[in-house]
Order: sequence, then structure tokens, then C-alpha cells
Amino acid sequence: MTFASVLVLNGPNLNLLGTREPAIYGSETLDDVARLCRDAGERLDLAVDFCQSNAEHQLIDWLHAARTKVDGIVINPAAFTHTSVAIADALSAIQKPVIEVHISNVHRREAFRHHSYVSAVAEGIIVGCGTQGYVLALERMATLLKNRAAK
Ligand code: DQA
Repeated sequence: MTFASVLVLNGPNLNLLGTREPAIYGSETLDDVARLCRDAGERLDLAVDFCQSNAEHQLIDWLHAARTKVDGIVINPAAFTHTSVAIADALSAIQKPVIEVHISNVHRREAFRHHSYVSAVAEGIIVGCGTQGYVLALERMATLLKNRAAK
């Protein structure tokens, strides 16, 4: 039985995980990450919906739809992290807890990756923990949602 539902959203180029710069992002594919998230969801009693798009408008549309459907958002906005006021605005608008995830340690990389528009609207940020970061984010989300339910 699930007690809450979480949308795990992935931004551009993450469909290429496994072949894309494996020295930075590792060798697991996006399907592997989806499996990790579903397994974590089962263990944590969370219903997990896992999506990826290369299109900013699609990510925003999914966030708008999530407003009435999910309890929390785990998002790796990928390159939109560093560029998209629109995604940050959509996350603010829907008023659900957000955990931001980055597979790589963006702070050890180019300066343009050091700023995130999303971090200001996130409850928590998990960076540089590889794909395990998604599992850590779901664990944190389960704690946040349980604490909210208990209030
Ligand atoms: C990323 C980091 C971003 O800077 C980059 O544009 C990505 C992936 C990560 O998961 O490490 O596409 O979000």
C-alpha cells in the first residue's frame, strides 16, 4: 500500500545515460535509474511516476498536471537547471515539496553549472552521488511527506 505519490522528472539528454559521457554520468541507463526509483518506491511505500523529456514545455506541462496528482517532486532538470526560470516558476506554482538531484558533482565542473534556478525552490538538493542520488532523494521525500502527514 502506498501512502503518497512522487513524480520523478528528468530533463534533456538524460535519455542518453549509459552512453553519454560515462566518465561523468556512469554506465547505468535511464531505464536502470527508473528501476532503482521503482524499487525504492516499493520499499518506501511511495507510488513513483518516472518521466524524461528533452523539451522544456513538456516538463512544465507535466509539472502542471502533477499539481493535483502527486504529493512531491524529485527533479533532475539537467541543463535546464542552469537556464530555466520557467521550470523554477512551475515548481513554485505547484507548491509541492521538491528535491533536486544531479548525478554529477556540478560544483566540481564548469562555472556555468554552479548556479541553479531550481535550488531556490527545492527543499533539498542531492549532488554528486551518482544515480544513488535518486534513491536518496526518494528516501528524503518519504520522510518529508510522512512528517507532513503527521502534523
Ligand atoms: C546534471 C548536471 C547538469 O549540469 C547537466 O547539464 C546534466 C546532468 C547531472 O545530473 O549531473 O545534463 O543535471
